[in-house]
Amino acid sequence: EKGGYDWFMQKEIAEQPQAVADTLLGRVNGQGRLKLDEMRLSEDELRAITKIIVVACGTAYHAGLIAKYAIEHWTRVPVEVELASEFRYRDPILTKDTLVIAISQSGETMDTLMAIRHAREQHSRVLAICNTNGSTIPRESDAVVYTHGGPEIGVASTKAFLTQLTACYLVGLYLAQVRGVKFNDEVEEVLTQLSDSPAAIAETLNRMEPIRKLARSMVGARTVLFLGRHVGYPMALEGALKLKELAYIHAEGFAAGELKHGPIALIEQDLPVVVVVPSPKRPLLHDKIVSNIQEIRARGAKTIVIAEDGDDVVAPYADFLFHVPELPILLQPLVATVPLQVFAAELADALGYDVDQPRNLAKSVTVE
Ligand code: BG6
Repeated sequence: EKGGYDWFMQKEIAEQPQAVADTLLGRVNGQGRLKLDEMRLSEDELRAITKIIVVACGTAYHAGLIAKYAIEHWTRVPVEVELASEFRYRDPILTKDTLVIAISQSGETMDTLMAIRHAREQHSRVLAICNTNGSTIPRESDAVVYTHGGPEIGVASTKAFLTQLTACYLVGLYLAQVRGVKFNDEVEEVLTQLSDSPAAIAETLNRMEPIRKLARSMVGARTVLFLGRHVGYPMALEGALKLKELAYIHAEGFAAGELKHGPIALIEQDLPVVVVVPSPKRPLLHDKIVSNIQEIRARGAKTIVIAEDGDDVVAPYADFLFHVPELPILLQPLVATVPLQVFAAELADALGYDVDQPRNLAKSVTVE
């Protein structure tokens, strides 16, 4: 049951700190070593991997896009990320040294299932990241890392997304550890930060009131754009997807660097643009996005800015500024996605739509 919440999605958003903590539980030991029980691929097999391809659909695909930044950085293994529905039909290059990572909350998504069947026919190894014990995708995979998110009822994925990210981080760090590519201290440091992330997510949830108000004031919006750089780019895609799914508002996510190559032509007076800003501790990225915000604001956009605690450089250019707790950039999606989820759900509710059961969508799509 909804346990006092208006919708399941609201409940599931609130459960995110616990869901992430549960996904980490028992996998990180005190010495900064990782243990993944369901990793039925030997260390030798994992050391032999020369390429990773992540396949997934919808929100899970966005988790994969974020995973690429983390896994490549930590392991130096090239990572491709592909929509499961595209992968299979383009004759992808797969060998026995390719690791295919399938991300699926339900474990039953037909597009993703077909993708892993194809990968296994080509003798690639398949690792599933899944929330549903004993479902088809993990059963047909060589290894599985379960996300311990608990049941997700809302059609639009929230806690499943954060736990998918968590599992992707664990897999990346595990591979780094096994392959010995990065010194152990980095693995150890990130593991500590990851263990602290549930508290940061809880803190983010405590700050939601202004986002709710903002969303409710935007029922007249016809289009909303989302911009980000680095992991902020997939977050922008996810923010836009949520708004389409729930509020039926036209929304698009762009890489902020692409603005000048096209999307800036869309900017007009009062167009709402949500911008996810990386930490000022990454000055190269940060400076660039600040100038992107200035560019769109100069053209009349209404800027809704999500930035890290203490980042006030962006304040003069933000019509609305929301701060999230500090986390290293690769982990920032764990906190910065939360306001995007709440924004979409509140706006949908304000428009009178059923947040848990959006029109035309199904929780798990078992046809291709
Ligand atoms: C969709 C759902 O159709 O399937 C999305 O509506 C979800 O929310 C996508 O992200 C993928 O689902 P799964 O179960 O494979 O993660």
